[in-house]
Amino acid sequence: MAAKEVAGSLPVPNVQQLASSSNVVPIRYIRPELKLQRVSSDDEYVQVPVVDMSKLDGNDGGELAKLHSACRDWGFFQVINHGVGEGVILKMKADIQEFFSQPIQVKMDSAQLPDSIEGYGQAFVVSEEQKLDWGDMLFIITQPINRRNVGLWPKIPSSFRATLEQYSTELEKLARCLLTSMARNLGLESEKLLTTFNEGLQGMRMNYYPPCEQANKVIGLAPHSDGSGLTLLTQVNEVQGLQIRKDGKWVPIHPIQGAFIVNIGDMIEIMSNGEYKSIEHRAIVNHKKERLSIAAFHNPNANVMIGPLPDILIKDQKQQAAKYKSISHQDYMKLAGKIKLDGKDKGFIHHMKIQTE
Ligand code: OGA
Ligand code: NI
Repeated sequence: MAAKEVAGSLPVPNVQQLASSSNVVPIRYIRPELKLQRVSSDDEYVQVPVVDMSKLDGNDGGELAKLHSACRDWGFFQVINHGVGEGVILKMKADIQEFFSQPIQVKMDSAQLPDSIEGYGQAFVVSEEQKLDWGDMLFIITQPINRRNVGLWPKIPSSFRATLEQYSTELEKLARCLLTSMARNLGLESEKLLTTFNEGLQGMRMNYYPPCEQANKVIGLAPHSDGSGLTLLTQVNEVQGLQIRKDGKWVPIHPIQGAFIVNIGDMIEIMSNGEYKSIEHRAIVNHKKERLSIAAFHNPNANVMIGPLPDILIKDQKQQAAKYKSISHQDYMKLAGKIKLDGKDKGFIHHMKIQTE
């Protein structure tokens, strides 16, 4: 390799510009494998569970049980009555749409810095051969406050910074609320999961998927599981595209108005020793309309070891075998970087599994 042996992302075209300048889709975006994949049709369509957060403290424990099976059997669910004000969600959606509609020069004020995925650009690209996603993104670290790179936070629209701040605070509260109930469901003291997330990194990935004439040949966001702990996803406009892999088929998610889509990330799968699942998902694009979404990732504190929680490994006073390795955050970062560089992006979780016969 040449002198520039840095771990940064290789420069690739801005997809929004590409999409608006020509109808020809470059070969690097064409995914031949899509032809062979099964997508569930609407008649066999299944809906992910919907959890009513206002009922989680109910006496009969019914909603809590629903949350538990959603985390265990699905890894994906929607939450309603979640306590995040409608005003801040609408403001966030409006500001994001306005940001992505700005001229490229304005958006480039928030461009990714070398060696970092934070800022405006495309997700990690490591080789010239790698297929590319049909989408741009703005990734911003929002918590803890001392990790913010405020220079990258968009100045246009002028309300965006304040909106991001408010949205970040409200979503962190919601994530903490879910983590408390999840701990109870896992038979832990209610603070146990929460404390591992104290001062953890929260990052917002704002996705922009332009329309594509050959929408069924490209992919907005390639199949992946989230490396984070817990993700709270919002679809910004009415265009759908999120799909999860369930029983070997791609199942579309139909977002409920005002709900958040929640998914278990790799870290919680590991901490729960596999009781909760981090499910593979992807985003497809629309022929005619742009699609936008916001994924808010919540991560454990960088100083805690990532591994099955000791309390989880004791069931009915018996010690259970760990199904995953334990790793420090620093080693995790190295491993995650190495997996990317190897170009085998099968996900971090596969590398953490302990093989048992
Ligand atoms: C993500 C993600 C799905 C979507 O950003 O990690 O899975 O609907 N997004 O954009
Ligand atoms: Ni994701």
